[in-house]
Amino acid sequence: LELQMNLEEIEKGGYDHFMLKEIYEQPRAIKDTYRGRLLADQGLIRMAGIDLNMEKFLNANRIIIVACGTSWHAGLVAEYIFEDLARIPVEVEYASEFRYRNPVITDKDVLIAISQSGETADTLAAIKLAKDRGAFVFGVCNVVGSSIARETDAGAYTHAGPEIGVASTKAFTTQITVLTLMALKLAKAKGVFSETKYREYLTELENIPSKVEKSLESNTLIEIIADVYKDSTNCLYLGRGYNFPVALEGALKLKEISYIHAEGYPAAEMKHGPIALIDEHMPVFVIATKKGHYEKVVSNIQEIKSRKGKIIAIVTEGDEQVKELADHVIEVPETLESLTPLLTTIPLQLLSYHIAVMRGCNVDQPRNLAKSVTVE
Ligand code: G6P
Repeated sequence: LELQMNLEEIEKGGYDHFMLKEIYEQPRAIKDTYRGRLLADQGLIRMAGIDLNMEKFLNANRIIIVACGTSWHAGLVAEYIFEDLARIPVEVEYASEFRYRNPVITDKDVLIAISQSGETADTLAAIKLAKDRGAFVFGVCNVVGSSIARETDAGAYTHAGPEIGVASTKAFTTQITVLTLMALKLAKAKGVFSETKYREYLTELENIPSKVEKSLESNTLIEIIADVYKDSTNCLYLGRGYNFPVALEGALKLKEISYIHAEGYPAAEMKHGPIALIDEHMPVFVIATKKGHYEKVVSNIQEIKSRKGKIIAIVTEGDEQVKELADHVIEVPETLESLTPLLTTIPLQLLSYHIAVMRGCNVDQPRNLAKSVTVE
């Protein structure tokens, strides 16, 4: 008997592609990211990079987040989390824009750079600029010892493990995990959170890996939905609040690997343009979880339906209202509003994956894209 497995097949661990393997690794990756940091039973979050620099964060006028691509989307989610939980003003910038627009930065600013690879040229340049102007720079990287990890004043690693697929998946959810831990820690230190609320978050964060696992169980249903929409030429992704960045990320995933034109939009902005595109040929993916602006999203769904758009909704388990309106619903477990992106993003990753596979695309190495962009 001849063993015909090559190294790559072994590395893929039985999955057809690295991307699928990495999607399925998320429950574990999220757990690895908070392991040793989140001590829910003691009501503690331990992060040396924050503990040693607490004053810098607490005295900061604002936090500026710089990143590119999917990491920038994690930054947008973090903006909602930091402002909502820790009440610290946040600005999120594309590193490429920030570095060239002569930004106003002082030594009262904290800059957080988010990067899976830790090698993105624009993000690295943004860090150098902020450091030159006196800001304290904190890195959230996945690759240990990478340039950004070395260039920053302090940081917290995501522990996603190696991400091989060019389209980022587990790096995104682990970045959100780290940033949530940071926001909770700062909220506690600032005293803007009651002990009960704080404890509730810690406990729920520990429940997230099993809820991600549960979200992955929709895979077969998602494959069926992917088959219906695989030949689309345009798709729209809508979300509000915490799930607006998830809509952007969903659209980016589809563009990257299936080459279908897709746009993410805040659901309320639909009426200022994208609504003109909606007809029976336009699939609209809507994140409509029970928490946060639910009724408003339902009315956005009604607007799409009355224009004959096809609606694929990501809903909270047991939802009945959206089920009546949508062409397809995909359920995710209920969780705290600020943690919903960790769940709602999962079906959108799977959907892009299956559509790309059905279209015969090279999922792990899409045309024209690189895993890490070390040039301008
Ligand atoms: C490239 C990759 C993306 C990634 C982006 C930022 O475009 O294809 O997946 O999100 O770079 O990379 P970084 O390593 O800085 O997170």
